Order: sequence, then structure tokens, then C-alpha cells
Amino acid sequence: HTVMTSKVVNRANTSQEVLFDVELPKTAFITNFSMSIEGKIYVGEVKEKEKAKEQFEKAVSRGQTAGLVRASGRKMEKFSVSVNIAAHSDVTFMLTYEELLQRQLGQYELMTRVKPKQLVQNFEIIADIYEPQGIAFLDAYGTFVTNELLPLVEKTVTDTKAHVAFRPTVEQQRTCPTCDGTLIDGDFFIKYDVKREKDIGNIQIVNGYFVHFFAPADLPYVPKNIVFVIDISWSMYGKKIAQTREALHTILGDLHEDDHFTIILFDDRIKYWKESLVKATEENVTQAKDFASKIVARGSEYVEAVLKAVDLLYKDAAENKLPDNSVSMIILLTDGNPTSGVTSSEEIQSNVRNAIHGNITLFCLGFGFNLKYNFLEVMAQENHGLARRIYEDSDAALQLTGFYSEVASPLLSKVHLNYPHNAVNRLTQHHFNQYFNGSEIVVAGQVSDDDLQNFIFEVSAQGMNDIKFQGQASAEDWNIIFPEKEYIFGDFSERLWAYLTIQQLLAKRESGKVEEKANATAEALALSLHYNFVTPLTSMVVTKPQKDETPEDAMIADKLTEGLTIYGFSITLKKPHQTFYFVMDGDPHFIIQVADLNDTLCFNIDDVPGTIFSLVKDPLSGIVVNGQTIGDKKVDPGSKVHTYFGRFGIAHQKLNLKVEVTTQSIIVSQDRRKTLLSWSDNRTFRGPGVEIEITKERSLTVTMRDSAKFVIILHRVWKKHPYHRDYLGFYTLDSHLLSSKVHGLLGQFYHGLQFKVGELHEGKDADKLDATMTVKGQQLTVTWGWQRDFRRDVKYGEGVSCWFVHSNGTGLIDGTHHDYVVSEIFKTS
Ligand SMILES: *[C@@H]1O[C@H](CO)[C@@H](O)[C@H](O)[C@H]1NC(C)=O
Ligand SMILES: *[C@@H]1O[C@H](CO)[C@@H](O)[C@H](O)[C@H]1NC(C)=O
Ligand SMILES: *[C@@H]1O[C@H](CO)[C@@H](O)[C@H](O)[C@H]1NC(C)=O
Ligand SMILES: *[C@@H]1O[C@H](CO)[C@@H](O)[C@H](O)[C@H]1NC(C)=O
Ligand SMILES: *[C@@H]1O[C@H](CO)[C@@H](O)[C@H](O)[C@H]1NC(C)=O
Ligand SMILES: *[C@@H]1O[C@H](CO)[C@@H](O)[C@H](O)[C@H]1NC(C)=O
Ligand SMILES: *[C@@H]1O[C@H](CO)[C@@H](O)[C@H](O)[C@H]1NC(C)=O
Repeated sequence: HTVMTSKVVNRANTSQEVLFDVELPKTAFITNFSMSIEGKIYVGEVKEKEKAKEQFEKAVSRGQTAGLVRASGRKMEKFSVSVNIAAHSDVTFMLTYEELLQRQLGQYELMTRVKPKQLVQNFEIIADIYEPQGIAFLDAYGTFVTNELLPLVEKTVTDTKAHVAFRPTVEQQRTCPTCDGTLIDGDFFIKYDVKREKDIGNIQIVNGYFVHFFAPADLPYVPKNIVFVIDISWSMYGKKIAQTREALHTILGDLHEDDHFTIILFDDRIKYWKESLVKATEENVTQAKDFASKIVARGSEYVEAVLKAVDLLYKDAAENKLPDNSVSMIILLTDGNPTSGVTSSEEIQSNVRNAIHGNITLFCLGFGFNLKYNFLEVMAQENHGLARRIYEDSDAALQLTGFYSEVASPLLSKVHLNYPHNAVNRLTQHHFNQYFNGSEIVVAGQVSDDDLQNFIFEVSAQGMNDIKFQGQASAEDWNIIFPEKEYIFGDFSERLWAYLTIQQLLAKRESGKVEEKANATAEALALSLHYNFVTPLTSMVVTKPQKDETPEDAMIADKLTEGLTIYGFSITLKKPHQTFYFVMDGDPHFIIQVADLNDTLCFNIDDVPGTIFSLVKDPLSGIVVNGQTIGDKKVDPGSKVHTYFGRFGIAHQKLNLKVEVTTQSIIVSQDRRKTLLSWSDNRTFRGPGVEIEITKERSLTVTMRDSAKFVIILHRVWKKHPYHRDYLGFYTLDSHLLSSKVHGLLGQFYHGLQFKVGELHEGKDADKLDATMTVKGQQLTVTWGWQRDFRRDVKYGEGVSCWFVHSNGTGLIDGTHHDYVVSEIFKTS
């Protein structure tokens, strides 16, 4: 239970904007936020997401759905609010979030990010810990704590309680005696563990809810059978495969001598290191390391590879090659999506699930962002494993070995925790497939009566030896232990129960049956609202005061999910013949898929913001599509300006129609009628020969009779993003009725294109591969790469491979990109 408080005083004689900008762990739920301004308190209200959005949109006339929460690095999300404060007045912000600390590798870790960005008059970090079993050790430090600051970190540990405080004065915060900069900038960690005397664990009962913490000590080692399934497709080429080699080297070195293992590599084929698991003896490990050091990426079919790994484990078990009581696992590492063969995600998942049948644990590591992470997550979950995203960064090898060390020692399997039926209900998950060394199993539930004499519980599990424990729980009165902290500890077990239940229901929503999913969603929503948790199903609406006479403004805080951190919209499009779109971080980016070829071409058009380009121009039907670029809001000096499309003009001469689309509005002029449409409504507009369908805040489909069908997608960028603006994407759904005279940057490809690509070779850029492409009688050097394609999966996009044509598409497009510049949004020249 973490409370962050910040009081800001405006000493100036004019009003000023004050920003409250904090980061919290992704695993936490925000449970309260309030602002106290001039004696008035504004408290955030947690509401069902859709309802919150409605209220929010009503309040905000501009209709922009900007959130208060956004992703911040791998583990954190950022919460920011800004308010206008009158002269000589102050504001107090208070944010509360709650999380269950996960024990990992033998310790709990509480991390707090502190970045005040200025000297703070009264700065303090205070933590109180109570552990009835006793505290084994406690460590507190900050990444910013210098030798001078170190003595200021106070730690007091008694048997069951710990207190940590850190209160540097303004002088102590200074980077130097005469500087105004602050040393306080980084993460503050508190790490500790509790004493574990009894194998059975510890049960805490407070106010009608119990929590059972199970983490037995001194269990014997259990040998494991492990198959590493590694993606070596082209997309892994370069740094990623190098980091994988490095990680494998470490992981192989950490295998226990009683373990058995093998490695499977896959691209469009499957290659075994050994077609049977081998014992992890020094000699075999050395051989494997040698093999791993030679792994190189080639030009992905991971489902097949996982199924082969399953077969292999079954075959070796059947031939008694694996030790008794050992546990089997598969670790899949991929950076792509399943492709050919079986098509639907459900079908793939059920094939894997049926093959594994609960006998093997599947861990999935997704490398980078060109993949459907959610798919891997569901597949891991359905097979009792975990998924983890590996960020493409210099420390990727460390991330891989870090993950491995968490799952490297499964000590128990089939762990069942049983409680008396008549004494408890609303139990959270209490059967677990694995218990890893250094972790912890937590179960919570409601105690149905006060007759705790009968609270006898039982734990059974398989390990090196099968175990069965029995114990009896007793209640503790936490109000006596921490009378002054009743607000935190008083109902902690009930809130912990709610936290766990919501997490488990949210997981069920991903992988359950249809009816179960609906029930899980409804239940998770009801609990989130009841306990005031900001979860992926709820949002918090914060009303903030406005200066002058304008009405109060509303803001909204959402819980981010993996998908939302990248792109936050979802619509379904039909597969077009040809398409093009722009990516968020790039310049106008064109993707061209040619007829039924699987190969895709990409190119960027780089020019100053404000340029209008002719995209489609059909002199026979009189159809014109032009697009105008916009630049970043602001740019760091010396860096490159990114441009995006911000405005499109679609004109159809015969229909006497003009449609102008910007990120703010849509203006349709037909005959003498002018209609203003808004992105904030679901609406269909019909005029003679034309239909325009708007999916609120997402997309717009323009269907023109007997000629063409286009889709424009709205990409809303976070409102306060320092650089990027909202921008638009353009897709062609149907162009086959356009005439053979159609031209334009995009139109010239509507009738197909012939090209041939030669062998891949090492590119100019060491991490990339080049090839020579023959097109329109010329030879171009193209670079093999990945792009995100939103055609089928508009929410996350799909990673597609494409041949990138350099220098503004030179050689691929007719003429140069300057030839496509037009003077006005509906002009043809
Ligand atoms: C506000 O402060 C500025 C300088 O800080 C000063 O010039 C001005 O007179 C002040 N105005 C009032 C109304 O006090
Ligand atoms: C949230 O915080 C405000 C102000 O501190 C408090 O009045 C309110 O009771 C809190 N709400 C909840 C649900 O804890
Ligand atoms: C479990 O981890 C601890 C260190 O956290 C280690 O000392 C112990 O040997 C491990 N037990 C097994 C069975 O691997
Ligand atoms: C692994 O190494 C050991 C000796 O180091 C050897 O006896 C064994 O045959 C090797 N292969 C397998 C499949 O275990
Ligand atoms: C897998 O598990 C199922 C049911 O738990 C069992 O019937 C089957 O024999 C197991 N298969 C193997 C190969 O262990
Ligand atoms: C879903 O909820 C309804 C109503 O509460 C209940 O009747 C039904 O059995 C539930 N279905 C499942 C699969 O849990
Ligand atoms: C495109 O890919 C599919 C599936 O991978 C394959 O069957 C087909 O032959 C490919 N087509 C071409 C033209 O390469």
C-alpha cells in the first residue's frame, strides 16, 4: 500500500500550471487519487471504463481521449496530472496504489521511483513493514544514494517490524553546495525476506479474510528436463540472435548435473541439436555451448517446433531416459508470429494444449514488439507457464538469463492447498502446477464463521518426495499491532483477496470459454468497482478545477495492458488488395503488397511538413486523393523532424463530392451541401453515390459507388506527448474499378507490379540484410526488414517482412517524389 503525496506552493503573484508526475509499477492498481486546492478536495472516482469515457467525453468539448496514465519503460507506468494554481495558493496531490509483492529468488522487493526534478522542502520516504513470522533480513538503498547520503537511510528492524526512513534536507539534496540541481533522481529499493520455520507456511486472518503464504524452505533439488525452442528466422538476424547466443551460453552453464536438456532451432524448418534429451554433464554442456555459439539466424513456424519438443519429451520419458520425479519444461524464444499451416489462434492453442495435456510446463519468451504477445501469454498460461517480453535492448541477454533463473528450479509440482469447506469460501486459486525455489504461493479467501478452532488446512505436493502437511490457523488482531495504521492494515487481507481474485479473473478472460470469459469479466468489474481498483476494466475520472469562468475539466486514468502501451485502438478490416499506412515513429511510410505475392515493398517519403502529395489520381473517373503532412510538435535541436499525414482530401468529380479529413474533423461537401462530421460519434453519412461510416475515435470508411473504397484510421497519440501529434493512416480496401490511367504515389501500384529479388547478403548496416531487386528494368539495393501492419490486427498490428526501398522510393515510384507534390488538398497538380 503506497501513498505518494506532494504539496506544491505557488509563491508567484500570477497563477501557474503545476504538474504532478509520478511512476508506479505496472503490477500495481491505483486505488485512490485526490487533489486538495484552496480548501476544496477533488477525489478521483473509479467507474466502468465505458461509462468513464462517456462522462469524460461530455466534459471535454474537444473530444480527445487523452489519458493520465501511460507506459514508462518496462516495469513502470506514469501518472501525470497538471492543474492551474492561483497566485499565492497551494495544491496537495495524493496518489495511492496497491500491489502484492511477489517473492522472487528468495526476497520481496518494494521499488519506489523518486524523481522530484527539483529541490524539495520536506522530502521523506517512510516505510513500515510488519511480518508476523519475523524478518530475516532487510536492505534499503537508492540508485541515487551517494556515500554522503547513505547514512541518512535509517533502518530499524525488530523481530517482526521494520521501519525505513530517508529524509534528506534541501542542502543534502543539492548536487553541489551552490547548485540548484537535485541528487534525488532514481529508484529507491527495499528488499527483505521473512523467516520460514514451518514448511506449512503462514496464515493470517484479519477481519474475516485469510491469506496463506506458502514458501517452504530446504526442499531437495528436483531434476528437470528442458527443451529450448529457439527462433532462428531472418527477423532474429543480428543483435537479437547474438544476445540469444550469449544468454544460452550462461543458461547452459547453470544447468544442474542431474538435468536433461536439448535444443531445437526453427525457422521454416526444424533442426535438433540432439534428437533426444542428454544429461547435463560437463562434456555434454560444453558440446551444447559450442553448438549454441554457432547459431545464426536464417530466413517461422514455432508451433510445429513446440509440438516436436513435446514429442521428444514424451519419447524420452517412454524410453525411461529421464529420471523419476523429474519435471519437464519447454522454453520457447521467438520474435514472430505463427504463420503457415493451421490458421486460427484458437486452433493453434488447442493443438498445443491437447499435446501437452498438463504434463509439461511451457514458458514463452517474446523478443521485441513484432509479435502478438498476448497470444504467447495465453499459450503459456494454458500450459501452466509464464510469458515474458524481452525488450530489444543492450541487456536482452541479461533479461533472458534473469527469466531463466526464476524458473530454473521447480521444487514442487501439483501443489494443492486445501482448506475446510465449511469454514472458507471465495477461495482464490489454490492448485498450482509448480513451486519455484525462492518464490511464494499466496492463497486468500473469506472465513465464513468465527469458529477458527476448526480452521485446519492441508498442503500436498509432489517433489523429490511427495509431501503432505497439515496445520491450524489462528487469527491476529492487527489493529492492536499497528493501532495508528489501521487504515492500511485493518482490511489488508480483504484487499489482498480482492487483488488476487481480480488478477486471476483477468487471466481467465484471456483464455477461458466464452461464457466463462463473460462471467469473469463481469465479476472482475464488480470487484474493481467495489474495491476502487483501477484495472483494465475500470477508469478513474478526475475532475479538475479550471481557471476563470470555464466549467470544470475532467481527466481520465486507465490501467494499461501490454497491447495498449503500443497502440490503443481496434477495428477489423477486410483484406485489401493493396494498402499503405504510416507508422507512429516514422516518416510517411508506404507499404505495398503486390497482388497475391507474399512479398511486400516499403518506402518512406521524406519532405518538409506541410507538403501535399498526390496519392491517387484517376483522370477517367475523376477521383483524387491527396494527403498533407504535419511535423512533430517540437523537435530537439539538431534532431530529425518526423512527419506524418495529418490531412486527407478525397474528391470524386462525377459525384460532385469532396471529403476533407483531419485529426479533428471530417467535412463532406456534396452538391451545395456541406456537412461537418466528428470523430467522436459512431455515425454513417449517406449522400448520392457515397457512404461514409465513422467508427468513433478510430476509423472512417468512404465507399464510392462503382469506383473505390478507402479507410482512414485515426491514430490518437497521448495528448501530452512532448513530440508526436495525432495522425492519420490511409488504407485502400477496393480499387479495382479505378481506370488503367490511375496514378499517384499509391495509385500507380493499383494495377500490380513486377519485381524480382535476388539473394540476401550482409547489408551496409551490420545488423541488416540487403538484396538486389530488379524492378522496372532497374536494379536497386533493398534492405530486408520488419514493419508493423495493421490490416488484420488493427489493435496490435502484425509484424510483416518487407523489402525496404531507400531514398524516397527512388527507382520504385515513377519519377521522384517531388513530381507528386500538389498545391492544394483537392488539386490534381
Ligand atoms: C508581481 O510580481 C512582479 C515581479 O515579480 C512585479 O513586477 C509586479 O508588480 C507584481 N504584481 C503585483 C500585483 O504584485
Ligand atoms: C480517497 O482519498 C480521499 C482524500 O484523501 C479520501 O477522502 C477518500 O475517502 C479516499 N477514498 C477511498 C475509496 O479510499
Ligand atoms: C534455493 O535457493 C537458495 C538460495 O536462494 C539456495 O541456497 C538453495 O540451495 C536452493 N535450493 C535448491 C534445491 O536449489
Ligand atoms: C553425456 O555425457 C556423458 C558423459 O559426460 C555420456 O556418458 C553420455 O553418453 C552423454 N550423452 C547423453 C545422451 O547423455
Ligand atoms: C499426460 O497427462 C495425461 C493426463 O494427465 C495422462 O493421461 C497421460 O498419460 C500423460 N501423457 C504422458 C505422455 O505422460
Ligand atoms: C455464469 O454466470 C451465470 C449467472 O451468474 C451462471 O448461471 C453460470 O453458471 C455461469 N457460467 C459459468 C461458466 O461460470
Ligand atoms: C505465400 O505464402 C504461402 C504460405 O506460406 C505459400 O503457400 C505460398 O506458396 C506463397 N506464395 C508465393 C507466391 O510465394
